[in-house]
Amino acid sequence: MVARPPLRLRIEAMRLTDLPAVYAIELASFTTPWPPHAYRSELETNRMATYLVVRAADELVGYAGMWVMVDEAHITTFAVHPAWRRRRVGERLLLALLDLALERRAREATLEVRLSNLPARRLYEKYGFRPVGIRPNYYSDDREDALIMTTETLDSARMAERIERLRAELATLQAHGTAGSQPVRAGDEPDRPRDQPHPPGAGPGP
Ligand SMILES: CC(C)(COP(=O)(O)OP(=O)(O)OC[C@H]1O[C@@H](n2cnc3c(N)ncnc32)[C@H](O)[C@@H]1OP(=O)(O)O)[C@@H](O)C(=O)NCCC(=O)NCCS
Repeated sequence: MVARPPLRLRIEAMRLTDLPAVYAIELASFTTPWPPHAYRSELETNRMATYLVVRAADELVGYAGMWVMVDEAHITTFAVHPAWRRRRVGERLLLALLDLALERRAREATLEVRLSNLPARRLYEKYGFRPVGIRPNYYSDDREDALIMTTETLDSARMAERIERLRAELATLQAHGTAGSQPVRAGDEPDRPRDQPHPPGAGPGP
């Protein structure tokens, strides 16, 4: 049998025509998804915001958003289609956001994540985010606390070394066809849905 080449992932700016696919992933990922009109408003009116999507061929498989305010990059949303998780799509997205944050001269990147959301926490830790505080009762559905995570200075030597090491690892995996090449098999257990803290436009944080 001839091995198929790895499917290339493309990261692009989110467009209004992406909103149905984004909403489908929201529904599959969060207990209180952001409605499409919230994303529409972000794309049309928020000049501080950047929203990215990941495509595998024509399929939208993940997306993320970020606000850059003065010298801080705040990640507002982040999700990968359940069938595409654990294929390093999240890593590719996070790397793209951090590259953009640096380009826009953000000093650090920050976000809130559910205390119980270990997959996301592990991903962020891998990319240099560290816990810096708690927002008590942050999530409206069950009042779970949010963990606030922040990177060290983005242009520090240590952060640059981490990013370049992870970028090189991803490139090697991609070259060997083991990153983002296939969706997970039908029947694999996706991560359970999780809450979105607040709709875009409500501000990053309570
Ligand atoms: C969190 C999420 C975006 C990760 O996306 P992903 O594409 O599956 O992640 P990747 O394959 O790029 O994984 C990269 C790293 O993340 C961590 N990770 C991802 N999924 C994990 C899991 N189920 N358990 C433990 N660690 C996990 C690991 O550190 C992993 O690196 P490793 O394989 O070297 O250990 C995805 O699970 C998701 O969409 N979850 C639902 C939405 C959500 O929680 N968003 C975050 C809101 S703050």
